[in-house]
Amino acid sequence: MPNCSSRGLTGTTLVLGVIGDPIGHSLSPAMQNAALEALARDSIYVPFQVGPRQLREAIGGVRALGIRGINVTIPHKIEVMKYIDEIDPVAKLVGAINTISNIDGRLIGYNTDGIGFLRSLTEEAGRHPRGQLVTVLGAGGAARAIGFQLALSSPKCMVIANRNKNRAQALAGEIQVETGCKTIATGFDGLRAYLPATDILINTTPLGMYPNVASAPPVEEELLPSTALVCDIVYNPGETVFLRKAKEAGLATLPGLGMLAYQGAAALEIWLGVQAPVTAMKTALIKQLGIS
Ligand SMILES: NC(=O)c1ccc[n+]([C@@H]2O[C@H](COP(=O)([O-])OP(=O)(O)OC[C@H]3O[C@@H](n4cnc5c(N)ncnc54)[C@H](OP(=O)(O)O)[C@@H]3O)[C@@H](O)[C@H]2O)c1
Repeated sequence: MPNCSSRGLTGTTLVLGVIGDPIGHSLSPAMQNAALEALARDSIYVPFQVGPRQLREAIGGVRALGIRGINVTIPHKIEVMKYIDEIDPVAKLVGAINTISNIDGRLIGYNTDGIGFLRSLTEEAGRHPRGQLVTVLGAGGAARAIGFQLALSSPKCMVIANRNKNRAQALAGEIQVETGCKTIATGFDGLRAYLPATDILINTTPLGMYPNVASAPPVEEELLPSTALVCDIVYNPGETVFLRKAKEAGLATLPGLGMLAYQGAAALEIWLGVQAPVTAMKTALIKQLGIS
């Protein structure tokens, strides 16, 4: 893993970081330091363990210490919005931020998860949501970020399917009101009706995530059209049971590692204003996760 001693800290080293609780298992330091190394920047990305009671002071610290930017992870993505100066319009819709940019003491919040997924979809799978029927499995935080971002990218319709149908209805209603995108909500029990018309299917639930690798969302792959793309935002394992079954059914698939790399790339681009070295970031993630 790249470290500061291999790059050398100077009096002008630009500091970036991530706050969360817990933070020890975050993949962002390895990914972002690999990016900074590839860019040969005099910069370092540091993990900070910040509990809920220290959040306000930690954000004050970002200002006081001139930290150029931070990522924000669980459990602070919503609460932290109270302590910053401005929120990007998409992040405002999502209702959570994962990135803060410090411009001369003014803190601006962004949510890069949705754009991370969209870039993975377009750049890795070569697909765009425009004119497509997009079916999102799940209605939690990741579904919100992806749902709003894709709804702003002119899909034909978005189906939100969730175990708890009330949450699906709430999210679908919000997306339709805020973006004008046509939405449909269903419980998992009603999902099969929408599979034959689905162009892009996205699992945003943790089903299949390590260590529960045998679980998968209740999708009958044979009902999907042969042109459908099946996406999973779970990145560990690299190929979930959900994606393996889709591949076996002859469908194109998109794993979650790309979203993880591109959400980090989008944050780095906000902070530094340069194109992020996505390949170096993916390589660092693969090494850190021990996946292939
Ligand atoms: N690749 C990336 O960059 C990236 C980024 C963000 C998140 N993720 C991954 O996305 C997943 C979800 O994260 P999140 O922040 O959205 O979580 P969250 O806010 O807790 O939402 C979880 C969603 O999954 C559903 N769910 C949970 N357990 C389920 C089960 N056993 N059966 C059926 N549905 C279940 C929940 O349904 P109910 O409403 O019915 O409870 C809810 O809709 C995690 O695995 C996370 O690692 C990946």
